Amino acid sequence: MRVLTGKSSREIRAVWFEGGKVRMIDQRLLPQRFRVIDLGDHLQVAECIRNMTVRGAPSIGAAAAYGMALAAVNDEDLGKAADTLRSTRPTAYDLFYAIDHMLRSLELGDDPVEAADMYADQIIERCRLIGKYGAALIDEEARIMTHCNAGALATVDIGTALAPIRTAWTEGRHIFVYVSETRPRLQGMKLTAWELYNEGIPHAIIPDGASAHFMREGVDIVIVGADRITANGDFANKIGTLDKAILANTFGIPFYVCAPLSTFDFSLTSGEQIVIEDRAEEEVTMMGRTRLAPKGSAALNPSFDMTPAKYVTGFITEAGVLLPSEIEKVRKFRLEEAGLP
Ligand code: MRU
Repeated sequence: MRVLTGKSSREIRAVWFEGGKVRMIDQRLLPQRFRVIDLGDHLQVAECIRNMTVRGAPSIGAAAAYGMALAAVNDEDLGKAADTLRSTRPTAYDLFYAIDHMLRSLELGDDPVEAADMYADQIIERCRLIGKYGAALIDEEARIMTHCNAGALATVDIGTALAPIRTAWTEGRHIFVYVSETRPRLQGMKLTAWELYNEGIPHAIIPDGASAHFMREGVDIVIVGADRITANGDFANKIGTLDKAILANTFGIPFYVCAPLSTFDFSLTSGEQIVIEDRAEEEVTMMGRTRLAPKGSAALNPSFDMTPAKYVTGFITEAGVLLPSEIEKVRKFRLEEAGLP
């Protein structure tokens, strides 16, 4: 991704391996501060996933893959390291997919860092294809709405929901992006807007509650990411996604979900089975160190919601654009890729 620092710009990934360390952008500090941190063991990586220094399903997966590589290099118990990394966040399937992938690679005797690098590189290639297939759905002068951050920060590089947007822009289409702020962690306002600003893509941040207003006024397409997609096409994504799906349906606006095959969990038959992460009340009641809510008021903070497949126009994947009824093809594509029957 391109990052503007002062008058210069540089290309950087959200997470990578260098000099014996896992390096990642501290996403909690953006856009005010740009800081890269170094991690020397899998426990530090686990803590950074838990506290959302690194976040977004595919980036969490890549961070966990690098965490497993560190555990192998440091001669740790791999089973225990896998359990520690798995316990960090429950909803994004990429986390579990990446850990299983690394355990298989390490068992085969692959070099740990090379295996994790290859995993991260694959995510980027998948995102590039999502960008190619998704951009074909974006018309000239399209007004696009997105939610949370499903950009390069969330996927090592390029993005899932932001990939078609980036590609359409690079291809010369005059687009405009409505970025919903994404209470309570504000990934839309802080991260997606920062990525679009760095690329010069026209956009505006809107309060989450303004989605209906702008959809009624004229949005051409809604594009979001996903944290886990089940066999029937239901999916979990950042809290507030379900509202947008229902609204898009009400206003007759196409609603697309972008995800690599590492986000599809075929062990679950429906979205009802997805574990939704609950996070701390303080994320809702506090703004930085200031409490905004009355002292006696409790808050509920589900980090994700589940959108039924019936609201999805299509899934944009590296295997092409699929109807919810066609996602079985992803399973075949994944098995073929792994060389399995
Ligand atoms: O809690 P987060 O910031 O990890 O949640 C991120 C999202 O919900 C994204 O939309 C999702 O991971 C897709 S990222 C390509």
